[in-house]
Amino acid sequence: MDSEILLQFKNIHVHFGGVKALDGVSINIDEGEIVALMGPNGAGKSTILKTIFGLVKPQSGQILWHQKPLSPIPYEIVNLGIAFVPQGRRVFRHLTVEENLEIGGYIIKNKTELKRRKEEVLDIFPALKAKRKLRSGYLSGGQQQMLAIGRGLMVDPKVLLLDEPSLGLAPKIVKEVFAKIGEINQRHKTAIVIVEHNLKSLLEIVDRAYVLDKGRVVATDTGKAIIQSDILEKVFLGKI
Ligand SMILES: Nc1ncnc2c1ncn2[C@@H]1O[C@H](COP(=O)(O)OP(=O)(O)OP(=O)(O)O)[C@@H](O)[C@H]1O
Ligand SMILES: [Mg+2]
Repeated sequence: MDSEILLQFKNIHVHFGGVKALDGVSINIDEGEIVALMGPNGAGKSTILKTIFGLVKPQSGQILWHQKPLSPIPYEIVNLGIAFVPQGRRVFRHLTVEENLEIGGYIIKNKTELKRRKEEVLDIFPALKAKRKLRSGYLSGGQQQMLAIGRGLMVDPKVLLLDEPSLGLAPKIVKEVFAKIGEINQRHKTAIVIVEHNLKSLLEIVDRAYVLDKGRVVATDTGKAIIQSDILEKVFLGKI
C-alpha cells in the first residue's frame, strides 16, 4: 500500500545559543505509521517534537505538511490534526478524568461533539472509564499516562506526538501502554511519533525508527532492523 507522506523535516537546524540541538535533521512520517525517535539524553528527540508543534522555531530547514511548507504555531497545529503529549505525564491532578479530557478537547466548540469524543476516548481506555469521576491525582502512574494520551486523542489527531510515555513506569505497565498505543494506531490509523531512549520492546511495534545523537540522525531503518543491529549500543556507549 502506498501511504502518503504526512509530515516531513528537511535539513532542520535548531540552535540554542552555541548548542546545536538539531544539526540538519531530515525525517519523514507517513500516514498511519508508528515512528520511534531514539537516542541518549540531549540527542534532540524532544526538540523534534517541540519543533513539529511550533514550540521551537528552527533557524533553517523546511517543515512540510502534506508536501506543503508549514510554519507551525501551536494553536493552529492542533487544528491541523497534530496532538502533543509532552514528557512527564502532566495531568491536572485536582481535576477529574473527564475534566482532563474536556481540556484536551478545548478546540471542540460543539458540546454534543465534545461529549461524543469523550465517550470515544473513554472506550479506548476502560480503566479510565471506570474512574471517570475520580480526581486524576488518585490514578496510578500508568493510568495517568493513559489519561495524558487520552487527552491528546480528544481532537482525533492524524498524528500523535508522545514524549517518553514509559518514563517512571514499571516494565509490565510499559507493555500495557505500548499495547494501547499499537491498538490506537491500528484502529484509528493515527500516525504516532514516539520518543524513547533505548527500548527494544518499543521497536517491535514501530514501522520506522530514527536513532539520534548530538542533534543528528545516525541511523534510520525499520524497527526490526534496528533491534538486530548494534547501533543503539554504539550510540549509548558513545562509540559513534
Ligand atoms: N530551551 C532550550 N534552551 C537551551 N538549550 C536547550 C533548550 N532545549 C533543549 N536544549 C538543549 O538542546 C539539546 C537537545 O535537547 P532535547 O531536550 O531535545 O534532548 P532529548 O533527546 O529530548 O534528551 P532527553 O532524553 O534527556 O529528554 C540539549 O543539549 C539541551 O540541553
Ligand atoms: Mg527529551
